[in-house]
Amino acid sequence: MNNTVAKAEGKLGILIPGLGAVATTLIAGVEAVKKNLAQPVGALTQMGNIRLGKPIEARNTAIKDFVPLASLTDIVFGGWDVYSDNVFEAAMKAKVLEPMMLHAVRQELEVVRPMKAVFDQWYVANLHGDNIKEAPTKADLAKSVMDDIETFKEANDCSRLVMVWCGSTEKYLESSSVHETIANFEEGLRNNDPFIAPSMIYAYAAIKLGVPFMNGAPNLTCDIPALIELSMQTSTPIGGKDFKTGQTLMKTILAPGLQARALGVTGWFSTNILGNRDGYVLDNPDNFKTKEVSKLSVLEDILQPEINPELYGEIYHKVRINYYPPHGDNKESWDNIDIFGWLGYAMQIKINFLCRDSILAAPLVLDLALFSDLAKRAGMSGIQDWLSFYFKSPQTAPGLRPEHDIFKQLIVLHNTLRHMMGEELFTPDGADYQQEVETL
Ligand SMILES: NC(=O)c1ccc[n+]([C@@H]2O[C@H](COP(=O)([O-])OP(=O)(O)OC[C@H]3O[C@@H](n4cnc5c(N)ncnc54)[C@H](O)[C@@H]3O)[C@@H](O)[C@H]2O)c1
Repeated sequence: MNNTVAKAEGKLGILIPGLGAVATTLIAGVEAVKKNLAQPVGALTQMGNIRLGKPIEARNTAIKDFVPLASLTDIVFGGWDVYSDNVFEAAMKAKVLEPMMLHAVRQELEVVRPMKAVFDQWYVANLHGDNIKEAPTKADLAKSVMDDIETFKEANDCSRLVMVWCGSTEKYLESSSVHETIANFEEGLRNNDPFIAPSMIYAYAAIKLGVPFMNGAPNLTCDIPALIELSMQTSTPIGGKDFKTGQTLMKTILAPGLQARALGVTGWFSTNILGNRDGYVLDNPDNFKTKEVSKLSVLEDILQPEINPELYGEIYHKVRINYYPPHGDNKESWDNIDIFGWLGYAMQIKINFLCRDSILAAPLVLDLALFSDLAKRAGMSGIQDWLSFYFKSPQTAPGLRPEHDIFKQLIVLHNTLRHMMGEELFTPDGADYQQEVETL
């Protein structure tokens, strides 16, 4: 397959609906890294390694030297928001990065001004912006986003584009008939079907133009049969949902370990306080429901109570998010985990993670943008299961169980890169190379 991965020539435009805390932390971060002011910590595409060949060969290489990724100097950013602040102003308001850091890249940030958003307050009740498109139908709105995409591409001389949704979490929605086929969906666009959310309109516009689309929020967005069908028709990589950061990241690191040691779990209580705009949006029960569904799926899928009812059959899992302005983007989470061991003796684990939400999320956006662009150049289309590593609620092919165990997800990601480059895949059984070591 290595002969078929086209080189990353020319500029890559990263288009982002939602220029809030996560997006501005990404953009400012990339500009700071380009000026050697900081390191891109947390991004596999910049700092990750991959082992090649058999373990005894000890061949390790940086991922960015192994696969042809766009370089940071070839990236141009653009985006949409319901507020008209440029990225410098929005980053100052988000208060994630220090003003000194932001002033060092001020010029680069000020030129990124949000295009008018596709927005519907029914989906995000707590936002009141005025940088919003107006058009008679959702089909006209989709056309307007497509025009934005093409104008941006030309104005910035980009050879390729990707889109990553960093907009607010929309109200909870279940898949319905308008989402079933692309014919239904396009008819729904023309008829202003209320179950076509703004995020779906951006996703449709991107996928229709063959622009890879990744969804960082828990909204359905491109996780509907209609847009999966369109992504196959237009040979477009898609993926989602909900960046795996903070508490859920910890859960998918810890739970596989407990399960690996056959330790029982009776309860996992997770609570969070955060005070950024994301927290404010999630303070609305309709929006929280979307997040809750995404956060709850993780444990059941890792522990599989149906296979191990003695260990996990009684588990009580609760997740809470509380809006608490004094903490801003510095989310604090507490987990109380009730576990049991040999002969059923009870134990407890307490985790208090003082994290920074957008600091954890920004490198994921960069990786998703660069890897989805790579996937497109490698001729891959449809749902990119191999990027599950980045999501709380991975989008998988219909009927397939999502994999949540972060270590298994990493093996799949690495193996996909090996496969793209025609390298031997890694199988963790070890029996074959153990024998080779013994005969050395
Ligand atoms: N930070 C994390 O760790 C993390 C983890 C997982 C998921 N997420 C999700 O990522 C998204 C972004 O998080 P954030 O902290 O940057 O939130 P934020 O509130 O700071 O930014 C979201 C931005 O999206 C804009 N927006 C909302 N609807 C829009 C629309 N239809 N079109 C264009 N812009 C729109 C808002 O005005 C806002 O500026 C949220 O959905 C959040 O739930 C974040």
